[in-house]
Amino acid sequence: MTQDEMKFTVAQAALEYVVKDTIIGVGTGSTANFFIDVLAKMKNDIKGAVASSKATAQRLKSHGIKVFNLNEVVAISVYIDGADESDDALNLIKGGGGALTREKIVAAVADQFICIADESKLVTIMGNFPLPVEVIPMASNYIKNQIIQRIGGTPTVRKDFITDNGNLILDIKDLKITNPKAMEIELNNITGVVTNGLFANRGADVLLLGMSNGVKIVTA
Ligand code: A5P
Repeated sequence: MTQDEMKFTVAQAALEYVVKDTIIGVGTGSTANFFIDVLAKMKNDIKGAVASSKATAQRLKSHGIKVFNLNEVVAISVYIDGADESDDALNLIKGGGGALTREKIVAAVADQFICIADESKLVTIMGNFPLPVEVIPMASNYIKNQIIQRIGGTPTVRKDFITDNGNLILDIKDLKITNPKAMEIELNNITGVVTNGLFANRGADVLLLGMSNGVKIVTA
């Protein structure tokens, strides 16, 4: 199976977790795109979706799926999204596509978070994938220095990229994340950080992992 076939297979498996007659949350990225495309088949079974990015909103609408603003919904039954890395406790790194802040907000509201990923994303210790941090542009140098002093690693501003919220992304390379929950909090405590791509204090509830021989269901 190719990586794309694995992504497609987990996207299909995630349909089982869609709660009928509710509003669901939908993530961003190539795996989430596969999910949006298969969700189109059951668009009449849900009330609609809250999108974690402008790109996702556009793709949902292109399939005729109703998109709600978060402020107009009372609840989100389930959030379905990909990840850049997951450990076996279902702590995640997200934000490779730069949508981490909206993703984290939608994940916070959702009753359940189902992560969909191909097998390459499961790691023993996270940090090989550069950790994204969304920052207020005027604070980027200050935050870079604070990260070096307080966290370590090598932060650099993502080139030619502005988030949906009008901010910059710092990608931190050379990290070995042994305590993801603590690091998530420490990073968010730096003034000017909007949020960071560690999803540990609210990690996934279920990881659907695409393997060459099918889908493995991992729970924390
Ligand atoms: C988007 O900002 C990210 O959090 C994505 O969910 C993550 O990068 C996974 O993307 P792929 O499904 O494209 O690997």
